[in-house]
Amino acid sequence: MKLRIAIFSDFHCHNKNNNNNTQESYLLTDVTIDTFQDPFKSFEILIKNDSTISADLLVLPGDFTNKCDLEGLQMGWDIAKQIGKLLNVEKIIPNIGNHDVDSRKIRNSDPFNDIKNFSLDFPFNDVELNSFFWENGYIIIEDENYRILNINTVHSHTTKEMANKGLIHQDAINNIEERLNKSLSNKVNIAVCHHNPIEHSHYNTGSTDFLNNGDELIKILDRMNFDLIIHGHKHDPRIRYSPGGINSPIVFSSGSFSAFKNLLLQGANNTFHIITFECNEDQIGKGIIDTWFFVPTKGWKQNIKNIYFEPRIGFGVKVDIRALSSKIHQWFDQQKDNIVSLDDLIETFQDIKFMIPSDVDKLKNELKNKNIFVSPVTLDEPTFVQYKKVSNGK
Ligand SMILES: [Fe+2]
Repeated sequence: MKLRIAIFSDFHCHNKNNNNNTQESYLLTDVTIDTFQDPFKSFEILIKNDSTISADLLVLPGDFTNKCDLEGLQMGWDIAKQIGKLLNVEKIIPNIGNHDVDSRKIRNSDPFNDIKNFSLDFPFNDVELNSFFWENGYIIIEDENYRILNINTVHSHTTKEMANKGLIHQDAINNIEERLNKSLSNKVNIAVCHHNPIEHSHYNTGSTDFLNNGDELIKILDRMNFDLIIHGHKHDPRIRYSPGGINSPIVFSSGSFSAFKNLLLQGANNTFHIITFECNEDQIGKGIIDTWFFVPTKGWKQNIKNIYFEPRIGFGVKVDIRALSSKIHQWFDQQKDNIVSLDDLIETFQDIKFMIPSDVDKLKNELKNKNIFVSPVTLDEPTFVQYKKVSNGK
């Protein structure tokens, strides 16, 4: 049994005219953009051409709009629902970001007035769920196979100053712990928030705007067997383990589906992802992430060079990389063939499939020191691993 979760984040939709005629998203309410310059229209074409792309859940970590533009908010939510339909998901789990809240009180003395009232079905088509989320700053959505903790990290954005950082109050953390304690954790456990729960200062993209009290939150999530924390905000995809114990949750930065180039790093791409989780009890915590990258004029592609990671990566297995490289070396020594496909190697050493990219890179370096070389990875084409045996003991 597998669970597939699609991640689409940081749309930043807005009216260009209302934004000093400055474009900050590919998705504009007042300007029509050519199909292959428009991430949503391109996504429709991608799905039309590949019916295998689908998911069980759609998770949206916030920033539907840009600078709390009301038209952008409506457009972002409409597009999110259309993406949900195209992916055939059972459920949509939206969260909100700093751009979705009128923290500067431009339109109303209550910064949350628009986000709470712009659409009856936001974030959920359920009055009780919505009032719990707005009141407590989090909601737990649970099913047979998963438990999703959706945390509103802009709950405290009631002034311009407060909007400079994410925050989760200690009271909310205590409350979350109490509630999580009441249900079983032997499912896929995922937390979703807008702000990064640990510092993310990649190429000076800001090192102070993380989720305050994030370390306390992670401590509880680690104790409660959480596998993954998904966040938006940084427009910079990244995957790493959070600080903690041997099974501390993965922190996954989603990147942005449609923020314009002035809101991205130089050379960056817009992205969306589909995460496939293993749900069998002995496999929970492991998964595969497929990523699509937006190439203006060409649309959504998987096999492109990018500054983040391969289009298909794994997570969930921490291994002793030196020991693993020695085992692979010994295995090659006993093999007749000096070249094998990476798939064959993974068949024997299955942990590799679920190692995060930085661990895979480390393994490749260790193997290189043992004269074992991995060719560049390209989806749909075989990757080879070659062992150059040194003769006469040299
Ligand atoms: Fe954003």
